[in-house]
Amino acid sequence: MAWALAAAAFAFAATPEWHRFATAADTPPSPVAVRVAARAAGLAALNTVRVPKAPNLDEFLRPGSEATAVQLGKALFWDVQVGSDGQACASCHFHAGADNRTKNQINPGTRGEDTKFGVTVTSAGAAQATAKPNFGANFTLSAGDFPLHLLGDDNEVNYNKRVVLRDTNDVVSSQGVLKSLFGGVGTAVHDVGTAQPDGVFHVAGVNTRRVEPRNTPSVINAVFNHDNFWDGRAQNVFNGVDPFGLLSREAKILLLEGGKLVEQRVEIPTSSLASQSVGPPVNEDEMSYAARAFPDIGKKVLPLRPLATQLVDPQDSVLGPLARGTPGLTTAAYADMIRAVFLPQYWDAGDTVTFDGERRVIGKASDGAKSYSVMEANFALFFGLAVQMYEATLVSDQTPFDRFMGGDDAALDADQLRGLLLFVNRGKAEQKADPVFAGVGRGNCVACHGGAELTNVSETFYAAGIHLADVTAEMNNGVLQEGTGTMLFDRGFSNIGVRPTAEDIGHGGKQFGIPLSTQPLAIGGEIEILVENQPPPPMLGIYGAFKIPGLRNAELTGPYFHNGGEATLAQVVEFYARLGDFADVNIDALDVGLARIALETKDQPPLTKFLLALTDERVRIEAAPFDHPQLLVPDGHPGDATKVTCANGFLPCEAMIESPAVGAQGRVAKGLAPLRPFLNLPQLSTTP
Ligand code: HEC
Ligand code: HEC
Repeated sequence: MAWALAAAAFAFAATPEWHRFATAADTPPSPVAVRVAARAAGLAALNTVRVPKAPNLDEFLRPGSEATAVQLGKALFWDVQVGSDGQACASCHFHAGADNRTKNQINPGTRGEDTKFGVTVTSAGAAQATAKPNFGANFTLSAGDFPLHLLGDDNEVNYNKRVVLRDTNDVVSSQGVLKSLFGGVGTAVHDVGTAQPDGVFHVAGVNTRRVEPRNTPSVINAVFNHDNFWDGRAQNVFNGVDPFGLLSREAKILLLEGGKLVEQRVEIPTSSLASQSVGPPVNEDEMSYAARAFPDIGKKVLPLRPLATQLVDPQDSVLGPLARGTPGLTTAAYADMIRAVFLPQYWDAGDTVTFDGERRVIGKASDGAKSYSVMEANFALFFGLAVQMYEATLVSDQTPFDRFMGGDDAALDADQLRGLLLFVNRGKAEQKADPVFAGVGRGNCVACHGGAELTNVSETFYAAGIHLADVTAEMNNGVLQEGTGTMLFDRGFSNIGVRPTAEDIGHGGKQFGIPLSTQPLAIGGEIEILVENQPPPPMLGIYGAFKIPGLRNAELTGPYFHNGGEATLAQVVEFYARLGDFADVNIDALDVGLARIALETKDQPPLTKFLLALTDERVRIEAAPFDHPQLLVPDGHPGDATKVTCANGFLPCEAMIESPAVGAQGRVAKGLAPLRPFLNLPQLSTTP
């Protein structure tokens, strides 16, 4: 089993960077002075923040049903019956809330319309030295493939002096479904579907599972994000139907009012996670055969026993009371849980609903497959709220950093204290005057990774307004610096030059023709000239901007950034120290916060060590609330990127790995090794 192999980890102490740093003979900073400086910069323990919660849940839930709703949400999140061919939400979010698989995890860059895999070697003469097997479907990644953007000198700050040894717009992400057209609800885990040849995700004509175009973020602490997804498209207001909140004009649920079934628009604020959760189940890359509607999922899973094919640990912190020793919960059907949790006016109607194209018709004589009960028709509402309520329990606030901010002077060692100072140092006048910052480089991290949540996309920060203005960034003879113009940003989203803006415009994108950012609308007229995947017009900091991640448990959630381009935290820190990879190409939309970073080589190990102090041990060992049912996840197909060795026509065989069920005490109690970083890499090393 792949999990057993994970035990062969490297020791941090063996990395050369660490040795070099450990011999530096500085006096350790005073914990009390560091805490004062960190608080002044706006940092705090996460348990000082109230977990965001929808204010109008009582319009939908029966009084006192919240605990059952969390059970329903946890079951739905981990249940492989939800997907068309065995995909659960957790299939891509099973490792510290994210995904650490290495085989068949590459997307060729489809966000930028590129359907061809490959690594491009960009500087003359570098080809022979660093030639790699080209990426492809079913490829197995290894340490040597990272960083995806490789320089001759990874610490070269001057863009004009850089030698690029290797570059690719390919993205490391998560495998989803095998390409198929939905044909109806089946009786088993798999829907009825017609397999389709896949022009992109295949090896020599044999299909492989399709891979997402952006790296998978962790669901842990996602509840604190005002908007979710890298581009923020999972709207804060949940409309009960789809991810697009108020942007979606047609989204309506069904409601029994005075004995009559009516269509109604609903607005559930503080519910980005509910909005998010109703996307993947019908997405033809993630969990669904093409053209499956959400009511079809209701039709499929409502009669099914929750987790019918998966073991649940009797000590599971949420589902334990419903465990029964054999796969599945004691509850006979999801419909029973829906009835127990939600108010009857959302499901207790005899009416039949049919879909006439996109249009919903109530009470029309059924045409069989396309006719639904009200409970089925409203399934997205139930799914979204229940999954969100489960995800809201995935809060990791017991990290060494949180203990330190809460007053424990011994929680961080001397290097981590220095790292924290680097993290919060913005070079402000009051910081320059404070002796604790003497000799400390300017990380400027807190400018974007702010507040107790360590991200400015938090609900807390949004309460303070959305748009921000700052000066532009400028390139001067290859040197990134502050410019003289002004630029608008959206709070919590930044272009920091990870990839060229034109490859993926991120938060500058649109939904139903409406910008994800309200900025172009505010500026007026600008909306007309926005074209997907075109270079951005100048001075709009939303293009190529991505959601700023909260950093807790990052040790376990590599690879990093929206493209999965860095394999270790040391590589991420090195990226910042050299001021990014594409600041020059992206200059028109670049966040000036990147230009304000000034880190020396000696600053990098303590900063990385500080990031390691953001790991909650409960996440590492999957103790409650991070315990979970058993899950088998697809892990590529037998063979490699040149040949699939087991197939039936264009349909491949599957390899699976198991994440065994664990209870509240987590993996250790089951004799399982703790979770490891991506590829088991030593996080302090830049050259794995
Ligand atoms: C095939 C893999 C896959 C599956 C299955 C999947 N996800 Fe994700 N998830 C992703 C990827 C990739 C992203 C980032 C997509 C983007 O930002 O464009 C993501 C983003 C998210 C986020 C946003 C986190 C953040 O910080 O922005 C949440 C929450 C989430 N998924 C929860 C779920 C839930 C709930 C389900 C099931 C309904 C699910 N995921 C199914 C791959 C997957
Ligand atoms: C100007 C804003 C800004 C600054 C300053 C900044 N970050 Fe980030 N950070 C981001 C954004 C935006 C992303 C995601 C970028 C992407 O994927 O395109 C990110 C991603 C990360 C990630 C990857 C997390 C993941 O899950 O993939 C780490 C780690 C990180 N930052 C640490 C730091 C550290 C350490 C510093 C200080 C040296 C720092 N950041 C400074 C905005 C910023």
